[in-house]
Order: sequence, then structure tokens, then C-alpha cells
Amino acid sequence: MSTKSHWEKAWSGADPKTKSWFQDEARHSLELIEASAIAHDEAIIDVGGGASSLVDALLSQGHTNLSVLDISEAALQSAQDRLGAAASSVKWLCADAVSWTPAHPFRLWHDRAVFHFLTTTEDRALYRAIAKAAIVPGGHMIMATFALDGPQKCSGLPVQRYGAQSLADEFSDGFQLIEGIAVAHTTPGGAIQKFQYCRFLRS
Ligand SMILES: C[S@@+](CC[C@H](N)C(=O)[O-])C[C@H]1O[C@@H](n2cnc3c(N)ncnc32)[C@H](O)[C@@H]1O
Repeated sequence: MSTKSHWEKAWSGADPKTKSWFQDEARHSLELIEASAIAHDEAIIDVGGGASSLVDALLSQGHTNLSVLDISEAALQSAQDRLGAAASSVKWLCADAVSWTPAHPFRLWHDRAVFHFLTTTEDRALYRAIAKAAIVPGGHMIMATFALDGPQKCSGLPVQRYGAQSLADEFSDGFQLIEGIAVAHTTPGGAIQKFQYCRFLRS
């Protein structure tokens, strides 16, 4: 099954609140975005945003230049349905994160989704090249992956797990690690999943 088919199937007809990655509030992402000191009119993208409420929170904080990219139409539709009229203030991009061309640069790139699913060196290189070209120097990248002691799979797919150092090694060309935080996420089913969040400066 292709990556797109997998995720369209995973999202279609599903209640986002039942998904293992669901969180009421993207608290750790919001804290790291706040630390990045992004002006309200600067471009922010949530890569693999799915049905996350991160975009709702950023809109309510007054951010006006928001994009959400996801490979699944169903996921983006779910987020748009939840936002209602406010959805028209957001750019919705249905694309594969390893093969798209950003229409403009971003000041902040957030990913609590895609990078850890990239299990081949080729896909990781494609992702990094797009991110490096798209994030303005002085901009920020916030990356959340399963931690070294996190689950080996998500949504039935194998993942590559990272610590702050191994993620910094992945992004050593063009990015400087600013901070890393360990997060224990509780799934709707009550399981604990260890995540590694990192904030990078695009140097
Ligand atoms: C584990 S979910 C996380 C969703 C959201 N970031 C959150 O924190 O709730 C992974 C998301 O990444 C999307 N995705 C997976 N592979 C992708 C790819 N290659 N390109 C773009 N989106 C992808 C999926 O459709 C899904 O919405």
C-alpha cells in the first residue's frame, strides 16, 4: 500500500480523538513555538499536521500566515471541518513531505508527524533538502519524533527513533540544535509514548 493510501485509510471516517497521537492541546509544540519568537505575520508550516489543533491555537494567538501540509485529504478535511469559517485563513497543502515544492519560504517549520516515518536515507535526504531550502536563515524548525525508548511503530508503520543528539546529527547541515525536551505522551487509550522534541535554528 502506498504512503498516501495508508494515511487516507487511517483517517477516513475516523474520529481524530481516538488516534494514538491525539492531544487536546499541542502544549509542547506551542511552548517551543513561543520560544522561537515568531511575529504574527511570519510564515509557519505544520508538516504532517493531520487533524492537530495546533493550527487552531496559532490562529487564536493571532498568527496570520499559517500553512498545514498533509498527505491525506481526509485529515485536512477533518481539521477544516473543525475550524469552520476560520479554515479559510489557512493554506491547506495536500502533498507528500518528501516530494513537494514550497511556494514561499517559512520562518517556522513544525513536524510532529512525518520525519520519524522516513526509514530510508533517500527519503530523509529529500525531506532535509526541502526543509533546508524552505526555512529562512534565522528561522526555526521544531521536530518531534518518537524517542530512543519510544514505540517502534505508529499507525502500524515502522518508525526511526531519535534522541536529541541523533536528530541533531541528521540535521547537521544547515541547522543548529537549540534545545531538546523529552515528552511522555499519554494516548487516548492510556498508553505512554516517549517523544523527543527538538528546536533547531536554521543557520
Ligand atoms: C502520527 S500523525 C500526527 C498528526 C499531527 N501532527 C499530530 O500531532 O496530531 C502523522 C501525520 O502525518 C501525515 N503523513 C505521514 N506521512 C506523510 C508524508 N510523507 N507527507 C505528508 N504527510 C504525511 C499523516 O497523514 C498524518 O496526518
